[in-house]
Amino acid sequence: MKRIGILTGGGDAPGLNAVIRAAVKTALNEYDCEVFGIKNGYDGFLEEDGIIPLGLDTVRGILPRGGTILGAVNRGNPYTRTLIRNGKEETVNVADEVLAGVQRLGLDALLVLGGDGTLSSAHEFYKRGIPVIGVPKTIDNDIGGTEITFGFDTALNIATEALDRLHTTAESHRRVMVLELMGRDAGFITLNAGVSGGADVILIPEIPFSFESIVKKIRSRNEKGASFNLIAVSEGAKPRDGAQVYSRAGDEAFVPRLGGIGQLVAEYVEGQGYESRVTVLGHVQRGGTPTAFDRWLATRYGAAAVRLAARGGFDRMVALQKGEITDIPIADAIKEPKRVNVNSDAVITARNIGISFGDE
Ligand code: F6P
Repeated sequence: MKRIGILTGGGDAPGLNAVIRAAVKTALNEYDCEVFGIKNGYDGFLEEDGIIPLGLDTVRGILPRGGTILGAVNRGNPYTRTLIRNGKEETVNVADEVLAGVQRLGLDALLVLGGDGTLSSAHEFYKRGIPVIGVPKTIDNDIGGTEITFGFDTALNIATEALDRLHTTAESHRRVMVLELMGRDAGFITLNAGVSGGADVILIPEIPFSFESIVKKIRSRNEKGASFNLIAVSEGAKPRDGAQVYSRAGDEAFVPRLGGIGQLVAEYVEGQGYESRVTVLGHVQRGGTPTAFDRWLATRYGAAAVRLAARGGFDRMVALQKGEITDIPIADAIKEPKRVNVNSDAVITARNIGISFGDE
């Protein structure tokens, strides 16, 4: 193994730089490889100056830094890439150009740090001869075959802190505070932060809710003497017989953007006589320094990905199972996205301690 490439695709997640750093150090220390960074996801293969050498000096000091030094592109699928060419926006298949870029660079392995979309593209590229290795990244924690993705713990901590802060102001003003959190189709951030931050109602995509049930919970708490309520709602949560709420509709150029369910919940609750406020935490959950846990996990993933490449374990993804790093076929990881198991001990525990999921 002489040359390795690394790219970061999809939405950024805290810990990307820690993976890059660990991969570069392992490649240089253990295998005496050359390492190249591909900028802006797969786009770097198409761009002038899209490839940069990565040495010890490049990765020095990046362990605690959020974001990615390589840049990322959300919805950067090379098979259906929206690009501006000759002043015109068009959806094109740039897979051949990516392939040519990898061959030009003479890569013996390409480490792809990404979520389900980026990993699906990686799997397709493997079929065309690119020696890919996957590293699971996403704050949503929704990739199959691994217990946890890096970035999730940081997002969870930020969301929990937000609930703690809302708690004191909710109590002072005897209000209902609604916190809208990220998690497109998976409610892990909202469930875990909701439990850790003492939410009274948790609304997640996996459990459709009714507005009446939320108010029932508030009423019953108030009858028992509580004068405030905290509601954690996932951006992807949907009412029974309803649909997910979008802040921006999709069109040819834009993927639909979720947002607004928190506002709907707050309006309904206020309409029933309970003063409410809504906070949308948004990208605060993705930015900034990773937690110690995410740095630790990201470092283990980064080093393991290089070891896997050296063993020739292509088209596989490093994963955490039973607390140990292992690897699984990328196809298995993307086959079935991970969702909150509504019968898991986590959900049962939340119900045991009186949290409502808006479904009773
Ligand atoms: O998948 C990660 C995620 O943060 C989702 O939770 C969220 O819906 C989405 O990305 C937001 O994407 P963007 O940064 O493109 O708005």
